[in-house]
Formats: sequence, C-alpha cells, structure tokens
Amino acid sequence: MEFKDVPAIVTGGASGLGEGSARALAAAGAKVAIFDLQEERGRKVAEELGGLFVRCDVADAYSAEAAFAAAREVHGPCGIAVNCAGIAPAGKIVGKEGPMPLDDFSRVIQVNLVGSFNIMRLAAAEMANREANGDGERGVIISTASIAAYEGQVGQVAYSASKGGVVSMTLQAARELARSGIRVNTIAPGIFMTPMMAGFSQEVQDSLAATLPFPKRLGQPEEFGLLVDQIVRNPLLNGETIRLDCALRMAPK
Ligand SMILES: NC(=O)c1ccc[n+]([C@@H]2O[C@H](COP(=O)([O-])OP(=O)(O)OC[C@H]3O[C@@H](n4cnc5c(N)ncnc54)[C@H](O)[C@@H]3O)[C@@H](O)[C@H]2O)c1
Repeated sequence: MEFKDVPAIVTGGASGLGEGSARALAAAGAKVAIFDLQEERGRKVAEELGGLFVRCDVADAYSAEAAFAAAREVHGPCGIAVNCAGIAPAGKIVGKEGPMPLDDFSRVIQVNLVGSFNIMRLAAAEMANREANGDGERGVIISTASIAAYEGQVGQVAYSASKGGVVSMTLQAARELARSGIRVNTIAPGIFMTPMMAGFSQEVQDSLAATLPFPKRLGQPEEFGLLVDQIVRNPLLNGETIRLDCALRMAPK
C-alpha cells in the first residue's frame, strides 16, 4: 500500500519498537498518530515527526475508542495500524511466594492480547470505510508478538500466552478482513535494544547477544521499522507472522 498522507496509528509509539515504526512510517510519508501512556516522550516523538500524540490505554475499550476519534478528527480514517504497546513482567507459575497471582497473569493478557485486539477491531472498522486502491486494498494492520510465543522461557508464562494469542489471531483476522481489503500481519521480534531491554545490565545484554547466531547483536528499532515499511508496501504479505530474530531459538532459561 502507498504511504503518502495515509493516516497511521502506532501504539507504544513513544518508545522502542513503536517509536522505530512511527519514524519509518513518517519517513515514508504517512500521517502518524502515536497512542501511548507515556505523555512527555510521546508528545516529543510526535512533534519531531510532525504527527499527533494521543494518550491511550490500549487495554481499555473507551480509551481506545476516544483515541481513534481524536486521531480521525485530525488525520482522517486510519489506513495503517501498528500494535507495539506491550508489557513484559516476569513471573513463574509457582514462585517463591506461591502460585502466581491470577491478576498478574490477567494484566499481561489484557495489555498485550486484548489491547492488540482492541486496536485491531477499531482500526478495521475505520479502514473498511476508506476508499480502496487499485488492488482493492483499504488498510494494513501489523501486530507485535515475540519469539516467546514459540519458545517461552521459564518466567514468561503470561507473556508467552499473550504473544501466542497475537500470533493465533493473525491468520484468522486476515481471513475475516480480506473481504474489506485489509491485510493483517504480525512481527515476532527476537531481542531488540529498546528501553524495555536497556533496564538490564550490560552483562545481561552481552550474554543475550552471545546467544544470537548471526548477527551477534541486539536489533535496533530502525530495523523493526524497516520490516513495518516492507509489510505495508508489499500487497502479497498477508496472514503471516514473520520472525525477526537473527535465527535465535531461545533456550528454556
Ligand atoms: N525489545 C524486545 O527485545 C522485544 C522482543 C520481542 C517482543 N517485543 C515486543 O515489542 C513491543 C514493544 O516493546 P519495546 O521493547 O519497544 O518496549 P518499550 O517498553 O520500549 O515500549 C513499549 C511502549 O508501550 C507503551 N505501553 C505499555 N502499556 C500500554 C498501554 N496499556 N497502553 C498504551 N501504551 C502502553 C509504553 O508506555 C511504551 O512506550 C512489546 O509488545 C514487546 O512485548 C519486544
């Protein structure tokens, strides 16, 4: 799909992979709206990109509906939606304190899986009313899973379940939204250098990098943005989850 002046929404766009996506989309000519909880950082990125910041909790139906309305008012109906908002707290099924509190599990599912669906449903409804291009295409939705959807490590039960759900939704959504000319794809990143990762010590970062077959370094948000750009451009990419992981297959721990 073309980018020029197409309204794009990027959740989690204030930081990391979402910021990388927002920058790539803006560079290609899209009108970017960043949906995030981090106001200061989100506004700064949006300003740099000549875009819009809207405070939004993706896990909340009303917050997301209001954010879509605010972005539509300024940019028009969304043609590109990228789900990058997410959280990754660690926790074992049975930890030192006993069984994982059910609310801890539910929270991760609510943000990562329900949040991605929340944006998908609202984006698809807007996209379906856009004018189709010559290929019959009206919109592109991209979600972010993780390779933990396939190789969850000890301590990642909630995170893996949430990302597995994102992977499983992808083909179903592509099939259902095909008649509206909307493509749906997911990126499953390996290990990227983002604020989520920067919280780990240099030692941990180095040991993570050493597990990567090639290249032996953490990915950069711009490299994630490159794939977002390609998914939007290539009309044949649909219903797919693409690993972006330097051939990494994570060990149990
Ligand atoms: N960094 C990695 O190595 C890596 C690997 C695999 C998957 N991922 C996934 O990529 C996505 C982005 O991760 P990142 O590394 O850029 O993290 P990050 O922490 O840098 O960015 C995440 C952004 O999401 C926002 N956010 C969190 N909860 C939100 C909510 N309820 N509503 C709106 N915004 C919310 C945060 O404010 C933040 O700006 C996440 O879904 C993460 O699980 C990251």
